[in-house]
Amino acid sequence: MRIGILIVAGLAVMLSTPFASGRGEAGTPVDDQRLLHAESEPDQWMMVGRDYSEKRFSPLAQINRENVRRLGLAWFFATGSRRGLEATPLVVDGNLYTTNTWSRVYALDAASGELLWSYDPQVPRRWGAYACCDVVNRGVAAWQGKIYLGTLDGRLIALDAATGRPLWSVLTVPQDRPYTITAAPRVVHGKVIIGNGGAEYPGVRGYISAYDANDGHLVWRFYTVPGPEPGAQAPVMVNAARTWSGLGWQAAGGGGTVWSDLAYDPELNLIYFGTGNPSPWNSRARNPDGKDNLFTASIVALDADTGVYRWHFQTTPDDAWDYDAGQNLVLADLDLNAKRRRVVMQANKNGFFYVLDRETGQFLSGRAFVDQNWAKGLDPKTGRPIVAGLPYAANGKFVSPSPLGGHNWQPMAFNPQTGLVYIPANEAPFLYQAEGSFPLSPSHWYTGLNLAAESAPTGIDPLLLRAVIERGVAGQLIAWDPIEQKTGWRVRQPSPWNGGVLTTAAGLVFQGTADGRFVAYDAQDGKLLWQQHLPNGIIAAPMTYTIGGRQHVAVMMGWGGSFGLAAGEAAKVKERDYAGYLLVYALDGRASLPSSRPTSRSIPGLPKIVAGNQALADGNRLYNQHCAVCHGANAISSSALPDLRYMAPETHRRFEQIVRSGTLSKRGMVGFADVLSTEEVQDIHAYLIKRAEITRAAERQPRWWAQTKVFLYGLIAPLLYRLQALRFS
Ligand code: HEC
Repeated sequence: MRIGILIVAGLAVMLSTPFASGRGEAGTPVDDQRLLHAESEPDQWMMVGRDYSEKRFSPLAQINRENVRRLGLAWFFATGSRRGLEATPLVVDGNLYTTNTWSRVYALDAASGELLWSYDPQVPRRWGAYACCDVVNRGVAAWQGKIYLGTLDGRLIALDAATGRPLWSVLTVPQDRPYTITAAPRVVHGKVIIGNGGAEYPGVRGYISAYDANDGHLVWRFYTVPGPEPGAQAPVMVNAARTWSGLGWQAAGGGGTVWSDLAYDPELNLIYFGTGNPSPWNSRARNPDGKDNLFTASIVALDADTGVYRWHFQTTPDDAWDYDAGQNLVLADLDLNAKRRRVVMQANKNGFFYVLDRETGQFLSGRAFVDQNWAKGLDPKTGRPIVAGLPYAANGKFVSPSPLGGHNWQPMAFNPQTGLVYIPANEAPFLYQAEGSFPLSPSHWYTGLNLAAESAPTGIDPLLLRAVIERGVAGQLIAWDPIEQKTGWRVRQPSPWNGGVLTTAAGLVFQGTADGRFVAYDAQDGKLLWQQHLPNGIIAAPMTYTIGGRQHVAVMMGWGGSFGLAAGEAAKVKERDYAGYLLVYALDGRASLPSSRPTSRSIPGLPKIVAGNQALADGNRLYNQHCAVCHGANAISSSALPDLRYMAPETHRRFEQIVRSGTLSKRGMVGFADVLSTEEVQDIHAYLIKRAEITRAAERQPRWWAQTKVFLYGLIAPLLYRLQALRFS
């Protein structure tokens, strides 16, 4: 009898732990204690930033400087997606959890890559129109046998970590506003913390919320900008309201969204996050009196239990440049002036590297880590930028950094052994020009900027266009000394928008690149130790774990995101139609990816449209203002979304219905009837046909002639670029 009971009990235990998942060596699921001491479990990667300090530093050292050249693909997993992949996977007790586009989740066996379960929240594809920066997702959180997911349409969902079955789901955003979630939730003391994005669209007011991790009920919410409701505000918001003027921003929502990473200090019990740009970008339209607009473009600290405000530091007061402060925040203890300080660090979009006291928010130091010309520097006492003038001169102005940022969401990493922070940095000046009148449409970008200011002439040779663009943008991996506030080493990269970073105790730095390489550098001096060429670009950050005594390094490969969609010509990887994969490397790995078949495509028959130069110029301006953010600047798509030069004859016939009436809105192509007239849509159509004709002619020219032109254009591109820069300096 007793034996019988034991067998039954044993069976029940086995049945309740399918795939032996969700249990650690100690037999405890991921709980507060394990998360608090994540650094003492080197084999796991239980949070997207690895631990609450978000250093992305792994103590693992099996893969080292000497043997890293033996690194090879151990296994891979096909996502089937052609759009951007931004997640950092988690590995918890033998299972790997990662996400795909459209907020889809996978649980895989971390040793073999076998799919254990998948979950698709069925995000309505029309929500894609609300996603400023692609239908991406940056990962999940794990706690007490559950996996937490934020969905693009604003739901927070708890899944059973063993089966993928949804346990509860709450709506975290109003459904009549263009809010989106792309960030990974964080779990702090039994609460799931999640923000949202959308400040490129009207009507979005940023906030961050904490939900009970057991049942999903709302525990607290903190608005990052004051709201219209009278009297219902804490004193801190009354003060914030004084930094706004006029009422226009209330219609626009104010922005300041919390769309990215979060760090937590258990000793101070504070959470830290950065807030997004105010909305609209054009500060003169939003903020005629030039006030600070708190708490946009700021680093904010809240009490983790109550969501009560503790301090803020505004990196860009009265932001006019789209300088979100959403870049990852790293907590560290640094010796500054012979004193050990608990700091929070950020390589901000505005190009400055900040070191703040994380208890008080006091500015300790700051210095530019990339070329910048928007500020003369920082006030040495307060850290407030000394602005070099507003960017919206009558003619426009070339400013660095651009809305792409000196650094964006791609996480940096801090290695306490080298004392260096590794920053994936961008160089891409941007022509800021105000847009006189801009319609307030709920489903379209709303910035108050002429996004078409930099568009190329309609008739430009595609090869010349490429040469000029390549001249104008680049990337860097910067190893930054946060104590001295200076560069340790840097590696130049041909394109901006490279992947996030991982660093390890073996003195390695791992990063994927926009031009399709996965690279290991020496953390001390930046020497390239190993690289593998890939058929697709990488923007996500790698992570590392051990299973079966073997260290693995995993990264999501899949070019996309905001720059990926908008900058088709800058996409460096030739086989751009290649889908996205999770790649998992180990020493002596022997797997190889399916070979890529470069897709040859040709431009089908084009309709004849008679359009004068004015109509073509209007079409150019309207296309680059309204369509380029998704279909690519100058009508060159990165192939994540349709390249409109290659439309089928049937699509040409239905062009106006698609673009104005929104006949494809269920698939994320929302109609523009509230923004564009029939005539304007015809102008865009004429422009696209013209670009298609020019592209077709270029594709038909003999190879030797094309190569000669590439050579000549390479010589004149720097000059053209310089002239352009002078014109708008
Ligand atoms: C928010 C992103 C977004 C914006 C902005 C956008 N589109 Fe689209 N568009 C899409 C998506 C997504 C599809 C693909 C729908 C599908 O899956 O078929 C699409 C498809 C199309 C198609 C059909 C192409 C084909 O070959 O099937 C046309 C035409 C089109 N868009 C025109 C435009 C024009 C013109 C503009 C600017 C006025 C514009 N789009 C702005 C996302 C966008």
